[in-house]
Amino acid sequence: MTEQEAAARISELSARIHHLNYQYYQNSHSEVSDYEFDMLLEELNNLETQFAHLRLPNSPTQRVGGSVTKSFPTVVHKYPMLSLGNTYSEEDLREFHNRVQKVLEGDYEYVCEQKFDGVAISLTYRNGELVRGVTRGDGTRGDDITANVRTIKTIPLKLHGQDFPEEFEVRGEVFMPFSVFEALNAEREDIGEMLLANPRNAASGTLKLQDSGQVARRKLSCYAYGFLSTPMAFETHAEALAALKKWGFNVSDTYQKCSTLEEVLTYIKLWETKRFELPIATDGIVIKVNSFNQQEELGYTAKSPRWAIAYKYKAMSAATRLLNIQYQVGRTGAVTPVALLQPVQLAGTTVKRASLHNANEILRLDIHTGDVVYVEKGGEIIPKITGVDKSQRLPESQPVQYLDTCPACGTPLVRTEGEAHHYCPNEKGCPPQIKGKLEHFISRHAMNIMSLGEGKIDLLFEKGLVTTPDHFYDLTHEKLFGLSKDYVDEKTGKIRTISFGQKTVDNILAAIQKSKEAPFDRVLFALGIRFVGSTVARKLVQHISSIEALKQASYEDLIGVPEIGDRIALSILAWFADPDNQAILKRLQEVGLQFSQEKATAHITQSDKLAGLTFVISGVFEQHSREELQDLITANGGKMVSSISKKLSYLVAGDKMGPAKLEKANELGIKIISETELLTLIGH
Ligand code: IVH
Repeated sequence: MTEQEAAARISELSARIHHLNYQYYQNSHSEVSDYEFDMLLEELNNLETQFAHLRLPNSPTQRVGGSVTKSFPTVVHKYPMLSLGNTYSEEDLREFHNRVQKVLEGDYEYVCEQKFDGVAISLTYRNGELVRGVTRGDGTRGDDITANVRTIKTIPLKLHGQDFPEEFEVRGEVFMPFSVFEALNAEREDIGEMLLANPRNAASGTLKLQDSGQVARRKLSCYAYGFLSTPMAFETHAEALAALKKWGFNVSDTYQKCSTLEEVLTYIKLWETKRFELPIATDGIVIKVNSFNQQEELGYTAKSPRWAIAYKYKAMSAATRLLNIQYQVGRTGAVTPVALLQPVQLAGTTVKRASLHNANEILRLDIHTGDVVYVEKGGEIIPKITGVDKSQRLPESQPVQYLDTCPACGTPLVRTEGEAHHYCPNEKGCPPQIKGKLEHFISRHAMNIMSLGEGKIDLLFEKGLVTTPDHFYDLTHEKLFGLSKDYVDEKTGKIRTISFGQKTVDNILAAIQKSKEAPFDRVLFALGIRFVGSTVARKLVQHISSIEALKQASYEDLIGVPEIGDRIALSILAWFADPDNQAILKRLQEVGLQFSQEKATAHITQSDKLAGLTFVISGVFEQHSREELQDLITANGGKMVSSISKKLSYLVAGDKMGPAKLEKANELGIKIISETELLTLIGH
């Protein structure tokens, strides 16, 4: 192909892919199958690799990231990024309304919007193309994170249509949808990494990653809520929002024009509960004067506009006394402090425990023993302590001293420079770490020996029957039958007894026997190698299909596997180099676990049984992990989408699915199917 031909084809492919993306993200419509789409993208990528100088910064191939930034250059905002004044009551809001009325003569309208709780971003477009994405920073200057921004699929790289100003800026909020956040935390839990506190922290942490490929995998999204140009291209904010939507931006359709304060108050009331159905956390409402001329008339204070205000919903919070701090040691040795509280009612549930994250958090909050603390339930599932009522501090109370030795084994804790957590380094001798690894080995997505769940591992460990995973395969009827133990159920506080009767023992031995059939990727995951979660294990097995090959794999071999980076590779090498691990592995091979997988079976058989159908998956499933189900759906021609809309074909519902999703699906008349029904559709 000549260079000229390549240039023509690149431009043709780019235009086609930009168009398909627009249809998909703006109109939820797929003109081609996923496969065809991937083929177009691959052809484009190949041409761009061959003719490197023809690769344009806004090529659709840049969505997958790839470039690695050393540090982000600081740039000055053309229009400063201001903050908003806050109000918490109807009265404050009336005051705002009166101030506006005093300045403006004649009629005016407001636009009410959600106050999205993500990370503010400023996007510059020139001649219809994204040229720059910058964080808020201090409001005057921020970090240029354009490469990371390009990976966000709901931020258009090229605009749709023609009627846009030559240069303008868009303001919006980058966020991690709840569904992505939950999946990311599930994955982190799998590999024994600390959980991320909330979607906002996850989004801001992700935006600052230096490898844009990694950013792309985190699947951030963005809502656009502001437009700026000189001269101003529109009369009103609402017109600007409509134009942004038309050009391909993701504008949440939750905004509403209100012409009276009463309408504003109705909007606030409506969204106080409805906001929990949105894919992102919100913490209030933003009220903006609609006309840009009237905005100018109202002007600005030093920090914020006089034409807009945020109405914040009250966080659900309660005050209670701190009874004690418990330190939990996880499978990887990470120590997490948990506050034990005088039970208190909060948003419909009794709260007895709250997460304290780490030593820095305890210092930041300046918690003393026996303090009255405030607990809040925000976007997170676990309540958190947000402050201390110092007026109620007891005279004899002392600042909380963080532990310096492991609460379980007494080993001095270590804290690596730059890490928030303390760790117990006694990996092989610390009981909760040993038990945690055993629990992981038997867990559902690993060897699935769930008949050993619920406290039974504790019993086996205490009796000295199991300390490493290979010991499970030495268990016999004689060793197990008749064992028993009383323990306190953490949830109910009641004393319960575990006892190994005939039926329990039969079930355990049968499940252990059956686990020998578990495929290699699950076995690899079960070994509990740090950073090797179930997804990573599957990826590894697809490329390195036996334990022998994996043992011999060099650093280069490992990082050659797609999505396996430096950190995972080093962790795998370290694990195999340890003689104790080698001995465990040898024993597991002898008892007959699966340590290889045919490459052909590692790839799921393709079919087009689900072609043209879209799916949302929610909840916890019996037979497969969520990711396995997603793989099955896409391997059979179906498409995963992130949110429930009218056009959705099926909602696959598991256990513990969010009530909001269920309600929405019911409201829209979406077909709700179980895991089994999905497998039947595919013909499994
Ligand atoms: S308008 C001049 N609209 O709130 C005012 N901001 O305190 C510009 N935010 O950093 C902001 N949702 O990140 C606006 N619908 C919305 C918003 C919103 C969230 C954030 C934004 C900004 C902060 C202002």
